[in-house]
Amino acid sequence: MPTQIDANAFLSMEIPAITQLHEEERVMLNELHTLLTQAPTDITLIDTRLDALLQHTTAHFEQENRNMLIIDFRPYPVHKDEHDIALADMKAAFDHWKTSRDMPALRQYLETNLTVWLKQHIATMDMITARFLKMYQDKGGALDFA
Ligand SMILES: [Fe+2]
Repeated sequence: MPTQIDANAFLSMEIPAITQLHEEERVMLNELHTLLTQAPTDITLIDTRLDALLQHTTAHFEQENRNMLIIDFRPYPVHKDEHDIALADMKAAFDHWKTSRDMPALRQYLETNLTVWLKQHIATMDMITARFLKMYQDKGGALDFA
């Protein structure tokens, strides 16, 4: 049975701004878990929070993509590809929810698929990317976290 995502579930990055975005998403997912397990179901509030998560994730991925381009990061296409697929999956899952109101499917997506994906993506792609961004920063290079 999925529960809340622990505070240390997402690895800390060498760039605090990236860790911060991951932490915000962890909190959003935990708030959603609470909403999804509450009765009665507040559909309007769930929809609002899902829209906020989609918006946050889009901005989060765009920020990483932008900074990878700044440092001319060679694995950029692979990392960006993972973002594009994850974002398409998220849109599909939320659209399915909005047309079907299929709670088990939404919970399966948020509490298992997305959570597992985030942990794995953060521990691999983001970790190595943050390391290279930090090296660039340490040499005086300017990144874009706006
Ligand atoms: Fe990423």
